[in-house]
Amino acid sequence: MLKNVQAVILAAGKSSRFKTGKTKLVEKICGQEMILYPTSLLVSLKLPVTLVVGFQKELVEKTVTKHFSQDVTFIHQTEQLGTGHAIACSQSTWNRDHILIMNGDMPLISADIIQSLYNKHIKHDAAISFVTAHNCDPSAASYGRVIKASDSIEIIEAKELKDDGAQHCCINAGIYIAKRTFLETNIPKLQKSTLSKEWYITDLVKLASDEKLNVETISSSFDTIRGINTFKELWAAEQIKKSEIIQKWMDNGVRFSTAHNVQIDVHVTIGSGTFIDSGVHILGNTKIGKHCSLAAFSIIKNSILHDNATVHSHTIITNATVESFASVGPFAHIHEKTTVQEKAVVGNFVEIKKSTVGQETKIKHLAYVGDTKLGKRVNVGAGTITCNYNGTDKFKTIIEDDVFVGSNSTLIAPVTIKKHAFVAAGSTINKDVPEDALAIARERQTNKENYARNLRHAKPSTTKDATNEEKESALPFLGAFKVDNFENNESA
Ligand code: UD1
Ligand code: CA
Repeated sequence: MLKNVQAVILAAGKSSRFKTGKTKLVEKICGQEMILYPTSLLVSLKLPVTLVVGFQKELVEKTVTKHFSQDVTFIHQTEQLGTGHAIACSQSTWNRDHILIMNGDMPLISADIIQSLYNKHIKHDAAISFVTAHNCDPSAASYGRVIKASDSIEIIEAKELKDDGAQHCCINAGIYIAKRTFLETNIPKLQKSTLSKEWYITDLVKLASDEKLNVETISSSFDTIRGINTFKELWAAEQIKKSEIIQKWMDNGVRFSTAHNVQIDVHVTIGSGTFIDSGVHILGNTKIGKHCSLAAFSIIKNSILHDNATVHSHTIITNATVESFASVGPFAHIHEKTTVQEKAVVGNFVEIKKSTVGQETKIKHLAYVGDTKLGKRVNVGAGTITCNYNGTDKFKTIIEDDVFVGSNSTLIAPVTIKKHAFVAAGSTINKDVPEDALAIARERQTNKENYARNLRHAKPSTTKDATNEEKESALPFLGAFKVDNFENNESA
C-alpha cells in the first residue's frame, strides 16, 4: 500500500539515441509498448498517474489512453529541457504529499521495488529517496553515478563525470520518491548544465544532501531497473522479459522444446499440459487452452485455442478460434474471425477467412474458403475454391451439414449447398444445390480413339516421309496452325 502518493512518469524525451525519429516509448517489448509497462504498474498500485509528454505526444497519449482512459493525466513539456524541467512541468497536478517519479523507459520494473522504496522513504522521513543498482560494466556507462561520502550523497550524470565512470559502480535507476514540499522548494534551485543545457532531476539529491536533509536509497538488481536508450538496450531488455514470461509458463506446466527461440507476448495465456515447439510465436491477446500442441514455426496472434487443439507446423492463425480437438495445418492460414469448431480438420495449404468450419468438417488440402459457413461433417475436396469476391463486393457461401464437395470445385458466391448434397469434382457451381442432390457442372469427357498413337506416328523427326494427309489425320484437333508448322519445318 502506498498512502498519500501520486506518480509522475517522465515521457517527453526525444529518444534521440534510437535514431529512428520516432519516440522509443511506443516501441514494443514482448508485444506491449514500452510506456505501458511503468504506466500499468503504477495504475495497478492504485496511484493517480501524471505523464509528462512532449516529443510526439499524440502518439504517446494515444497509446496510453487506449488502455487507461481514466487513471492518467497528461502534462505537456513543450521543450525538452531535461528531466528536471520535465518534473517541474508536472507541478500543477500535484495534490498529495509524496511524489513518486520515474523514467518512462523502464519496462522491467516491478511493484516490490516501488513498495520497498516507499517503505524506506516513509520510515526515515526522507526528503527524497531513490533506487540504485550496482554495475561497472561499460554497457552501463550512460547511467548517472551515485557518489557517496560520509556526510554527502549526489548523482553525477555520466557525461558530467570528471573521472572514469568505471570507478563508481553505484548507478542511479531513475525512480525517486520525494516530499512534495521538498520539490516545491528545491526545483526552482536547479541549475542548467553548462555542458548539455539541460536541467537534471538528479541534482535534487545534492540539494537535499547539502541542506542536510535525509536522503535514502534502496538497491535493486540492475536487470530490473534497466533504462532503454538504444536498440541494443531494448534487445537486451526484451530477452530478459521474454525469459521471465517463458519461465512463468513453465512453472504453470507448459512444455517448451526449445525455449530460447519462441516468442510469447506479455498478455498471452497458456493452459497447463500444452506443448510448444521450436520457433513458435504466440502474440497479442492470444489465449491457448490446456493440452494443446503447437508445432514448429507456427504463428498465432490475437486468437483463441480451446483445450486439446492441435496446430501443425508453419501455420498462421490470426483473429481466429480453434476449438477443442480440432487440428489445423501444416502450412495453413486461418484468419479474420474464422472459427474452426470441435474436431474439425484443416489441412495443408488451406486458407480460411471470415468463415465457420463446423464440427468434424474436413478441409484437408489446398483450398481457399472465404466468407463461408460450413456445417457439420462436410468434406471439402482438394483444390476447392470459394469465389467470394466480384471485384467490388463480397458474398457468402453456405455449405450445410454432411455435404461432399468434390476436388477442384469452384463455388461462386452467393450460393448454398443444402444438406447431404454432392458436388462432382471439377464443378463450377453458381446455383444453389438442393438437399440430397448431385450437382455436376463441367464439360462432359470425350475420348478420341487412337489420337495419341496417330500423333506419335506423325512426328516429323521420326516419320520424315509422312504425307501431308497422314499428318493432318493425326492432328484433327490441333487445327491448321500445327499442320502449317510441319510444312514450314519441311521447307526449312
Ligand atoms: C536518466 C538519469 C540518469 C539515470 C538514468 C536511468 C537524468 C538527468 N539522468 O538518464 O541519472 O542513471 O536515467 O535510466 O535524469 N525526459 C523528459 N523530458 C526531457 C528529457 C527526458 O520527459 O526533457 C524523459 C524521457 O522521455 C525518459 C526519461 O525522462 O523517459 C529519462 O530521460 P533519458 O534521456 O532517458 O535519461 P538518461 O540519459 O537515461
Ligand atoms: Ca534512459
